[in-house]
Amino acid sequence: MIPLLNSRPVALLLVLGLPVLAGDAPAKKDLRVFFSHNCVVCHGVDGSARGADGSRLKGQDFTDARDMKGLSDSKMAKTIRKGLFFGKRMPSFKSQLSEAEALDLVQQVLRKVEKGKPVYSETPLK
Ligand code: HEC
Repeated sequence: MIPLLNSRPVALLLVLGLPVLAGDAPAKKDLRVFFSHNCVVCHGVDGSARGADGSRLKGQDFTDARDMKGLSDSKMAKTIRKGLFFGKRMPSFKSQLSEAEALDLVQQVLRKVEKGKPVYSETPLK
């Protein structure tokens, strides 16, 4: 018999230890939240590049299907990490987003925006 496996503390550790380890895995960024914190000033809460009063903001209108057709996912992800005009028109998000996260942000957030519908709302609409 292997004494180690028969000892209770080890068995207990195995049972209790697994969920603890799983909980330690880095949490995946919620990219909608990231958008709401970092992009709305120029791209609007719904991605339409309009302010609450309807004024035109500086950024790209992600709800404009024609404009969006001309932009590839990879080009947009690149711009997000690089910024525009040396970070003057749009800051670089390289230090906050990996290449994979930038691409996810494009495909899962920017490509799915709807005019008038906030990308993320702290108080979910019922
Ligand atoms: C300080 C203002 C500002 C902020 C903040 C900002 N952007 Fe921009 N963004 C711009 C401007 C200006 C443009 C260019 C718009 C145009 O050409 O009509 C742009 C363009 C883009 C484009 C089109 C890129 C291309 O290749 O042409 C994408 C995608 C984009 N922004 C994503 C984001 C995301 C995602 C965030 C937040 C993580 C963000 N931006 C934050 C100002 C901003």
